[in-house]
Amino acid sequence: MAGLNHVEVDEALEMVRAVHRSGVTIVLIEHVMRVVVGLCQRCVVLNFGQKPGPGRASGDPSRSACDRSLPGEKYAQRMAAMAERSVLMQAQGLRAGFGSGPVLFGVDLEVREGELIALIGANGAGKSTLLGALSGLVPLMAGGSRWRVRT
Ligand SMILES: Nc1ncnc2c1ncn2[C@@H]1O[C@H](COP(=O)(O)OP(=O)(O)OP(=O)(O)O)[C@@H](O)[C@H]1O
Ligand SMILES: [Mg+2]
Repeated sequence: MAGLNHVEVDEALEMVRAVHRSGVTIVLIEHVMRVVVGLCQRCVVLNFGQKPGPGRASGDPSRSACDRSLPGEKYAQRMAAMAERSVLMQAQGLRAGFGSGPVLFGVDLEVREGELIALIGANGAGKSTLLGALSGLVPLMAGGSRWRVRT
């Protein structure tokens, strides 16, 4: 369903549900998480055609996308290695927005030395607002951040 807009995805979801309600079992090959979580009762993750590490290959589609998208062992190793590194920036419970109300609701974020973090979201999701809140350009309504700045 890549390339469909939100309305088209909703229509497609309803069509698939209608087919399923008629008694047909459907095997769906899909990477749009809203579709997977919205439709699937069981899921199997493939990474370059292979099931990821033990215990992570199949199960409840409502588990976090991140948890299911990296091969289990490699992901665990990376996370363990990263936990050893010192924290450069830590934000907790950030709430921020504009006159019309909050855009960010309780954002927690931690960045460690050498870590690369991608901030991904739809237009208007609040990416720039988060960067503004972290840098002090957008005033906070709640929460705060601590930085370890190298001089
Ligand atoms: N200066 C502003 N005053 C009022 N509302 C704002 C302002 N800047 C952003 N918003 C609103 O805050 C919400 C989040 O916008 P933001 O610019 O943070 O999204 P974004 O994820 O950076 O989007 P994009 O991908 O388009 O850059 C939107 O609803 C937007 O209309
Ligand atoms: Mg932006």
